Amino acid sequence: MSIQITNLTYIYDRGTPYQKAALKDISLFIDSGSFIGLAGKTGSGKSTLAQNLDGLLIPTKGKISYSSGIVVDMTPRVTRNGKEKLKRPKRIKRWKELRKTIGIVFQFPEAQLFKNTVLSDVMVGPLNFKANESEAKTAAKQALKTVGLGPAFYQRSPFELSGGEKRKVALAGILAFKPKMLILDEPTVGLDWSSAQNLEKTLMDINRSGTTVLLITHYMDLVYRLCQRLLVMADGRVIADGKPIDIFGDEETMAKASLLPPEIFSYAECLRRKGLGLDLGKTATPEGLAKEIRRCL
Ligand SMILES: Nc1ncnc2c1ncn2[C@@H]1O[C@H](COP(=O)(O)OP(=O)(O)O)[C@@H](O)[C@H]1O
Ligand SMILES: [Mg+2]
Repeated sequence: MSIQITNLTYIYDRGTPYQKAALKDISLFIDSGSFIGLAGKTGSGKSTLAQNLDGLLIPTKGKISYSSGIVVDMTPRVTRNGKEKLKRPKRIKRWKELRKTIGIVFQFPEAQLFKNTVLSDVMVGPLNFKANESEAKTAAKQALKTVGLGPAFYQRSPFELSGGEKRKVALAGILAFKPKMLILDEPTVGLDWSSAQNLEKTLMDINRSGTTVLLITHYMDLVYRLCQRLLVMADGRVIADGKPIDIFGDEETMAKASLLPPEIFSYAECLRRKGLGLDLGKTATPEGLAKEIRRCL
């Protein structure tokens, strides 16, 4: 599924002394099937953008058009004397369909778990979207398998699991209703290395099967290995949008967003500066780097 975002502005607590513009006039196109990274300092607006995309927040201004035909149009009316008149936020038409199309795994997955067993928790989504009990169970088991949780977990309480396991249950709960686009808000924070590796592989498989993925993360190594495109936000705006390797080399943007290029990228770039014609698009892993070095020598 593709999404066109046009002049999206989001203001929290509008009209109060606390009002805060978290998104400022953002326009971008999200291609169907792409794997996009979204990075930026804490408070730059990443989570707010994610919640506008999946209908949890309604834009203050601007328009979001989904290829499924859903349109959230909050383009302000311009009055005769040239002033903008904001539209009043209304319920989004086909909201439930929108929520089914876009699955979001929150930064704190605990907020997403409610039932007393893992299996029943993961069944909530499918049941909500009109699957019957047995369809929901099949979908839940499949989703739990995808995230690496076997039958031993079905009857456990989600609240007694480790942080990493809770996150897997939350992800399974989203995968179970088969969204066309998956948004993950800093999913690898607090995961041990092997869980993070599993998650990475799972995301790759999900994307290969055609699901569009938007990954919010500070880990540029992950972005290097997974994403074709990187968006960088600062203070409510998108300040860079391009191939990860081009942005990693852009010191000004990286500093603004407080991001470090992946170490392996820095090695590869250093070799390139010494005259080796490496293709930086292929050096995201040690194996890739080794192959490129051999090719060049
Ligand atoms: N519920 C809220 N109420 C008021 N302000 C908020 C709320 N959520 C976020 N903000 C503010 O909006 C800005 C963007 O926040 P957020 O989208 O959470 O950024 P990020 O995910 O990049 O850390 C920040 O200044 C934050 O303080
Ligand atoms: Mg956030």
